Amino acid sequence: MASQTLVTEIGPENYRFLQKHVYAQVGIVLDDDKQYLFQSRLAPIIKQLCLGSVNDLCDFLHAKKDIEIDKQVVEAMTTNETYFFRDPIQYEAIRTVLLPRLKEERRVTKSLRFWSAASSTGQEAYSLAMMLIEEGFADWNVNILGTDFSSKVVERARSGTFQQIEVNRGLPAALLIKHFSRSCLNWKLSESVRKMARFDTIDLRKSMRTLGPFDLVFCRNVMIYFDNETKRNIMKEIHSTLFRGGWLLLGGAETAFGLDELFDRRTIGNATVYVAR
Ligand SMILES: C[S@@+](CC[C@H](N)C(=O)[O-])C[C@H]1O[C@@H](n2cnc3c(N)ncnc32)[C@H](O)[C@@H]1O
Repeated sequence: MASQTLVTEIGPENYRFLQKHVYAQVGIVLDDDKQYLFQSRLAPIIKQLCLGSVNDLCDFLHAKKDIEIDKQVVEAMTTNETYFFRDPIQYEAIRTVLLPRLKEERRVTKSLRFWSAASSTGQEAYSLAMMLIEEGFADWNVNILGTDFSSKVVERARSGTFQQIEVNRGLPAALLIKHFSRSCLNWKLSESVRKMARFDTIDLRKSMRTLGPFDLVFCRNVMIYFDNETKRNIMKEIHSTLFRGGWLLLGGAETAFGLDELFDRRTIGNATVYVAR
């Protein structure tokens, strides 16, 4: 019965309400052809509330003004896909060009700061942490900040615990053996890697000027969900958090949106790097 009613077409007004709600809360633009996405992502919340359809859920949101359910709806519409060492060519550019430079420039302070913006469940930040250990920075003062809108994924990142299917994606076996231990059916990262990263909830649309300065910012596979104005504002904010010469890495399908006055575009191997002016 429930599964039959869940596929009820979302009424046009409810559809627009959800589009506006998600845009207002997180900045994500959901086009007019995302019926299926709303249906599938919201199904668990509908079930949890013993409702019959997305339309019922919209009525509930209007009537109850329940902040927790509101948040769950918005978080359900974020895409949290991530994996270890995603876009290996970028990690190779970090390993071969950025880290040797920083090793030399910071040999006195031995202090480095990185930011994984839109970190999801933490694989990006922890991949960098493992690479830093491998490259001889274990005794440096390394500070990796991971941030995401979704408190759910931030909690998971903080736990440093990953499922088998997650460690199967992108993580070399040697690093799994070296840095993880079995924890029931999952894998737990060692304290030496975990202590290099901390995670917090931050909406990228808010001012980020006080977060920096960073040597490198990852802002990958999130800009695609925003409109142009939001993208440009975020890029400017990120620029303000970078050291001069610091790197910004974007996702494969993303560009610096013509902000040439802020960043120099550099190609290293097959990776594109945006260097803060
Ligand atoms: C596809 S994941 C990308 C994860 C990682 N950067 C990667 O490339 O593997 C996108 C993440 O962006 C987050 N996100 C979406 N809108 C956001 C916003 N306004 N502020 C902060 N994070 C946001 C989502 O919660 C999600 O975890």
